[in-house]
Amino acid sequence: MSRTLRLAILISGSGSNLQAIIDAIEAGTLNAQIECVVCNNPKAYGLQRAARHGLPVEVIDHRDYANRQQYDDALRSTIQSIEPDYIVLAGYMRILGSKFVTAFEHRILNIHPALLPDYKGLDTHARALANGETEHGVSIHLVTAELDDGPVLLQASYPIEAGDKVSDLQARGHYLEHRMYPQLLSWISENKLIIDNDGQIHYEQAQLQEPIRFVD
Ligand code: GRF
Repeated sequence: MSRTLRLAILISGSGSNLQAIIDAIEAGTLNAQIECVVCNNPKAYGLQRAARHGLPVEVIDHRDYANRQQYDDALRSTIQSIEPDYIVLAGYMRILGSKFVTAFEHRILNIHPALLPDYKGLDTHARALANGETEHGVSIHLVTAELDDGPVLLQASYPIEAGDKVSDLQARGHYLEHRMYPQLLSWISENKLIIDNDGQIHYEQAQLQEPIRFVD
């Protein structure tokens, strides 16, 4: 038994994670409906992907707003009118203000290319290589007002091998990301993963103590 999740997907760029979610819905492995793709960058390739699949799109260009607060307010009212169950950040490159996060508390998901809580922020692959790490990974977490800081729901790691470049790590990470987001969303739609209104998280009827390890 599953419910159809209403999703708002926020992007800024290529949208390959958006594509993976679209593909899972079209393949019938994810019971969800993309109510809107919201994008802050009018040139994002992800907008072409959305158009190809006939999805509603809202472009809210942050450069059209005098300050972050006004942009956040516009984003918030757009998303409130969409009434999504979840807001899915998929390569969305703007930091959300605390007013926005509070308005949709426990209902915003983000995918981050690192094993959180390590390597918050940008350029995670380059920093992991520079530090001589032997593994890196991907995390999906709930968004709080602190950057890349909310509870981690799902995590996958991969080895870093001698001679690896940033692009090698990015490719390994993307491979996992494209499987992880559809998987996590389908667990939510099946009530296998439950995120309560007060932020309590249960997976397979037990309180989540640590991130679920993703197995491909
Ligand atoms: C992904 O690597 C994700 O981890 C990060 O931004 C990237 C987005 O890629 N947050 P895409 O736009 O989905 O291709």
